[in-house]
Amino acid sequence: MSLLEVEGLTKKYTGLTAVDTVDVTVDDREFLGIIGPNGAGKTTLFSLLAGSQEPTSGRIVFDGTDITGWSAQRVARTGLVRTFQLMRPFESMSVLENVTIASLGRRSRKDARRHALGVLERVQLEQYATAASGSLPTAGLKRLELARALAMEPRMILLDEVLAGLVPAERAPMIELLRDLHGDGLTVMFVEHIMAAVMALSERLVVMHDGRVLTQGVPAEVIAEPQVIEAYLGEDY
Ligand SMILES: Nc1ncnc2c1ncn2[C@@H]1O[C@H](COP(=O)(O)OP(=O)(O)OP(=O)(O)O)[C@@H](O)[C@H]1O
Ligand SMILES: [Mg+2]
Repeated sequence: MSLLEVEGLTKKYTGLTAVDTVDVTVDDREFLGIIGPNGAGKTTLFSLLAGSQEPTSGRIVFDGTDITGWSAQRVARTGLVRTFQLMRPFESMSVLENVTIASLGRRSRKDARRHALGVLERVQLEQYATAASGSLPTAGLKRLELARALAMEPRMILLDEVLAGLVPAERAPMIELLRDLHGDGLTVMFVEHIMAAVMALSERLVVMHDGRVLTQGVPAEVIAEPQVIEAYLGEDY
């Protein structure tokens, strides 16, 4: 049985179907990449899976439990947690406080703080623990966003463009960190436009276009498909 099973998932806005009858499964401990052009519905898919938004129709089953329509907090407690493409930490709070808050869902205040410190070490942000979150440069904010998600102790994490905005020199250590987290047993769904990272990390690849799954399969095979080149990658890739 797959860890995540999504059937016919659909989100309609006025005049637009952002996610259109998406079927996708993710196995326990899999690293699944998701690519597709701007507006393809990748972030909306994550919002539906994580309970940030309610689907119009369809079904989401996580670890054997139907979680369709559950609140984000309840979904997170079952072990499915997302990051946000647009990072939004509490800027006046310290880095440690932001991660401690995320950890409070599962732990007492004192224990949450201790746990948050461990998470900061894991993402190599411990030297910024007392810094105001709003003062972090982009690379730090990306790691903080990851830390906040990890602090919720997910079994599966939905990563939405955690490499966007990083300069090339900052990307390699982030890719290493994601590889390590996956190696430790975390199941990952990875939305990213930086194809080098997608190809380095993904065990399987889903391509979205116009809210639908255009194709999926072995990454090297998927990116060679003419329809993927036409819809997203372009002839130059
Ligand atoms: N709250 C909303 N109300 C109306 N339309 C929305 C809303 N959120 C997203 N959309 C639309 O849904 C479509 C899918 O958007 P989404 O953000 O999921 O795309 P994406 O694949 O994440 O794109 P990107 O690669 O640019 O992040 C777009 O046409 C977008 O304008
Ligand atoms: Mg997006």
